[in-house]
Amino acid sequence: MVKKKTRVRKAVIPAAGLGTRFLPVTKSMPKEMLPIIDKPVIHYVVEEAFDSGIDDILIITGRGKRAVEDYFDDAPELRMHLERHGKNQQLKDLNEISRFRGIHFTRQTEPKGLGDAVRSAEKHCGDDPFAVLLGDDIMKDGIPCTRRLIDVFEKTGGSVIAVQEVAKKDISKYGIIKGREEGDNLFLLEDIVEKPRAEHAPSNLGAIGRYVFTPALFPCFDLVTPGAGGEIQLTDAIRQLMKKEDVYAYKYTGKRFDTGDKLGYIETIIEYAMEDEGMKGELGEYIRKKGM
Ligand code: G1P
Repeated sequence: MVKKKTRVRKAVIPAAGLGTRFLPVTKSMPKEMLPIIDKPVIHYVVEEAFDSGIDDILIITGRGKRAVEDYFDDAPELRMHLERHGKNQQLKDLNEISRFRGIHFTRQTEPKGLGDAVRSAEKHCGDDPFAVLLGDDIMKDGIPCTRRLIDVFEKTGGSVIAVQEVAKKDISKYGIIKGREEGDNLFLLEDIVEKPRAEHAPSNLGAIGRYVFTPALFPCFDLVTPGAGGEIQLTDAIRQLMKKEDVYAYKYTGKRFDTGDKLGYIETIIEYAMEDEGMKGELGEYIRKKGM
């Protein structure tokens, strides 16, 4: 019998979405490259994966997403320029990206949905368990959200998805779960529905874009037909997975920022700016003056 692998070293980051919520800027710029002051959103997502002990990352891109690859590539001319001009801080900032070297990229040829994007990672993941981090969400906590999911996976051996309570008006934007409480912030998944209407939702716990899966997820896509929005949904594959093995939900208590939403994006920038010693005084003053 083949022993099941328990170390999570791989992550899949779907970044192929068209970014329609942010048009027109996303017409010529990937939404994952929208800046949170001076770093793109995807920087924080990749950083979370690395800080969770993952060292093998596959980013699923699509047409018009080349800037994502360029961001994680080396830039020798720029490095030399900064060295020559003694711009040491900028050089340090640039070198921070090089710790993410070795990221793999593949393209989703057609935007057929999140499930289809994750499915395209099958060859890369093989028989290994893997994390999925959605490129829109930034998590902020002492211990990275993905690390917390890996801890649950190591304890239970089952796939696990991160959830948080969401406001009633937002329920129809999420995959909503039904779960049986199993312990501190841990639920055994009993159902998950993609973007239900609030009155039909099984709870107010929504999937927040962080998952750890066993490789048993992949064959589940064979059983999935286009669902909500006419797309192949990851949620529908999770529903199939639940029939084969235990799947868990972990209630994440850290802060989450949805940068794919305009208001969420502004909130994220303010949050990070207020942590910056050089900015927080004047920015706080500006916000107070505006009477906010
Ligand atoms: C996706 C998932 C959904 C999840 C959400 C979290 O939806 O399909 O289950 O709750 O991410 O952000 P999307 O936001 O891509 O429509």
